[in-house]
Amino acid sequence: MIEFFDVIVDLQQGDCGKGAVSNYLVENIKYTHVVRYNGSNNAGHSVYVNDKKIITHSIPAGVLHGIKSIIGFGCVLNVDHFFKELKQIQEAGINTDGLIKIAQNVHIITDEHLNEDELDSKIGTTKKGNGPAYRDKYDRKGIRAFEIKELKPFLVDIYEEFFGDFSCKILFEGAQGFYLDIDWGDYPYVTSSHCTVGSAILNGVPAQKIDKVYGVAKIYETYVGEKDFEPKDVIFEIIRQHGNEYGSTTGRPRQCNYLNLNNLLKAIRVNGVTDLVIRKLDILRNLGIFVVYHNDQKIKFDCESQMKNYIKDHVKNDVKRIYWAYDPSNIGELESL
Ligand code: IMP
Ligand code: MG
Repeated sequence: MIEFFDVIVDLQQGDCGKGAVSNYLVENIKYTHVVRYNGSNNAGHSVYVNDKKIITHSIPAGVLHGIKSIIGFGCVLNVDHFFKELKQIQEAGINTDGLIKIAQNVHIITDEHLNEDELDSKIGTTKKGNGPAYRDKYDRKGIRAFEIKELKPFLVDIYEEFFGDFSCKILFEGAQGFYLDIDWGDYPYVTSSHCTVGSAILNGVPAQKIDKVYGVAKIYETYVGEKDFEPKDVIFEIIRQHGNEYGSTTGRPRQCNYLNLNNLLKAIRVNGVTDLVIRKLDILRNLGIFVVYHNDQKIKFDCESQMKNYIKDHVKNDVKRIYWAYDPSNIGELESL
């Protein structure tokens, strides 16, 4: 049975550091399962295990801590890439025996999907075949995991897994971010899956069993793709370099901008965030820049604490706790509201 579940969602355009939050949580909370609920190897989570950086793409990071990890409903999967990733994790000395599972109806990214996505120039996709795979899923032409012979040892029936005698404590980790969600994002500059808490719940877990929703954001914003996002100001080049804002999957430079507080609040509300994690404060602190957008104004602060207090005042009715993160491998300093 399900005792409770927590969800991690990215409140911006991806790349906010969900991996670090997930890593912190699995080290500190006795989860029995970690489940990925959307996307494919278009995502990349940087995780530090024993100070060693490992980038996971399709496989949830729970396995790095000996927790059963499931590629859940709502994901699409590149089979060759899955086996490469598995090998990389095993070569890092991590035991994966019986720990990596794939929901039977996960849809498969085929070579045709890859070839088609390779031609994209409009959206700026990661070219991992994501969009065409989801299209075929919804067009009812897709191939599912249980149809692939090599995947047989990894298949799991999510209902049996979660509703057996065993008491489950589940962490759901999402990919991409709220403003890349197919419905909530800036269509067509979005990904082809749902990146909200709702997507986690589609894995057959009752909504009443939700405990915490960790919403992850950065103190500035980034976006990768074809639309214009970055204002013309050299400061964003400086933020990009200091923040190392280059894609972990594609290496592409991420366009940068200041945090938009109205957008953050919308993402917090729609996802029911209880625990807000604001990351990369060290980058703005080192540069001595403290700016956010709010109600179409650019608000400049004299110091970091003024900026933090302003943010706190505007989110305190909606979230219970804020974590302020300065260290890339950590969830940050807790402040209860
Ligand atoms: P797709 O998901 O590869 O179809 O790409 C659609 C859009 O989502 C593009 O703008 C990508 O750059 C963006 N995107 C997809 N995955 C990620 C991610 O993990 N981080 C940031 N952007 C992403
Ligand atoms: Mg990522």
